[in-house]
Amino acid sequence: MNILKILQMKGKEPITVVTAYDYFSAKVCERAGIDMILVGDSLGNVVLGYQSTLNVEMEDMERHIMAVRRGAPNSFIIGDMPFMSYQISDEEGIKNAGKLMKAGANAVKVEGGERVSSLVRKLVDAGIPVMGHIGLTPQSVNQIGGYRVQGKGPDKERMMRSAKSLENAGVFSIVLELTVEETAKLITESLSIPTIGIGAGRYCDGQVLVWHDLLGINDGKVPKFVKKYANLNEIIESALKTYIQDVKGKTFPDERNIFKEDE
Ligand code: KIV
Repeated sequence: MNILKILQMKGKEPITVVTAYDYFSAKVCERAGIDMILVGDSLGNVVLGYQSTLNVEMEDMERHIMAVRRGAPNSFIIGDMPFMSYQISDEEGIKNAGKLMKAGANAVKVEGGERVSSLVRKLVDAGIPVMGHIGLTPQSVNQIGGYRVQGKGPDKERMMRSAKSLENAGVFSIVLELTVEETAKLITESLSIPTIGIGAGRYCDGQVLVWHDLLGINDGKVPKFVKKYANLNEIIESALKTYIQDVKGKTFPDERNIFKEDE
């Protein structure tokens, strides 16, 4: 996969994206044939146990991108730019994007519309493909008043302007997060680059889900826009309980799990 193929998929074939954070999950993504793997800063929530993505550092992203690259040597990997790695200055943004590329990413993702357009232009000029991200942007959760659906009423025009400005700056695709379907459809139809939706309805050019949500690894409720394709949390808990029972009951290890001197 490369950005030219991704651009060609618009309007022809839906694009599949899933997040991955480690060697094992990346390996399975590549085997399954996912179009693009996103090492998202959702790493902070689902792997590191933070309340938001704001605590994620460049070092976290670099380490996990390296692991994902080792697991998926042939996949197209997008590395998320963490909070405060590109907001201070474009120069710092370029330097940090370069670090994610050196860690093994094929592209980087930045949150924001017009605000990041000048940075996007400079990254693209430097040969770094960029994915945009508008709608709900979790790094701005304190600014936008919580995790709320975006693109309603007058907000639609603002999102349309953001999407156009990112396209003009040179992004190869845009994530639309938690956005009303009508607005996501309008944006998708107005752009020549693919939109990738998460909670943005049926008319985006592709979909992205978080690994832990898709596979039911998280406990508790998942948002309405998620489809759980498995319930691994229950399967894992049940396996662990059986293991505990076996060890406590001295039924594991048994004859089949041991080594003998004369073998
Ligand atoms: O960090 C992430 O996983 C993301 C997706 C939700 C698009 O940005």
